[in-house]
Amino acid sequence: MKIFIDTADLKEIRRAARAGLIDGVTTNPSLLAKVMGDADVRDYMKQITDAVNGPVSLEVLATSADSMVEQGRDLASIADNVVIKVPLTEDGLVATRQLRAHGIGVNVTLCFSPAQALLAAKAGATFISPFVGRLDDISHQGMELIAQIREIYDNYGFDTEILVASIRHPLHFVEAAMIGADIATVPPAVLWKFIQHPLTERGLEAFLSDWEKAQLQLAKTEEAKA
Ligand code: E4P
Repeated sequence: MKIFIDTADLKEIRRAARAGLIDGVTTNPSLLAKVMGDADVRDYMKQITDAVNGPVSLEVLATSADSMVEQGRDLASIADNVVIKVPLTEDGLVATRQLRAHGIGVNVTLCFSPAQALLAAKAGATFISPFVGRLDDISHQGMELIAQIREIYDNYGFDTEILVASIRHPLHFVEAAMIGADIATVPPAVLWKFIQHPLTERGLEAFLSDWEKAQLQLAKTEEAKA
């Protein structure tokens, strides 16, 4: 399963890319607004696209199909690895077909049902983004949606990739992988948690301290011999 980082924070993107953990980036207007300050928007987006060797989702703010296509084409000109994020609306599906016809990758976002996901695939979406955390928030099983989409896409051989979004904890990530999702987009705070395990830390401490003790013992024995 590929891992994307779900943030617009350049420091986190660069750190995760340096560690070789990520295959792409997803942003949304809320994430960009949180970190951009008074930076030039295009310049900031360009820095994100330069920071990762893989697709970077940039979202349109327009709501009519024509404006989405116009904005999407403009955003796509920032870099070759830009994928345009459009909402799962009627206009969004029209824009998806048109952007794909221009050879531009499209991530259809805000997906909350299997029927929506089927329509996005038929429109030629590169990625479909079902939001598991937001479904869990309203007492639905977010992960059930991922399993349903996997089955539907496999039934018909759609090549739209399932990009699990709104991931809130490591279990979401593991369940997505077990279902066979193509990609999980993960916020930095959750991504770093994947590495950590108390037994790893405790084990490493014990190895280092045992080695240190053995070295001290060796030094004492050598000293006694001399
Ligand atoms: C990514 O594409 C989505 O915008 C993001 O995962 C949404 O996550 P949230 O529900 O935690 O805001």
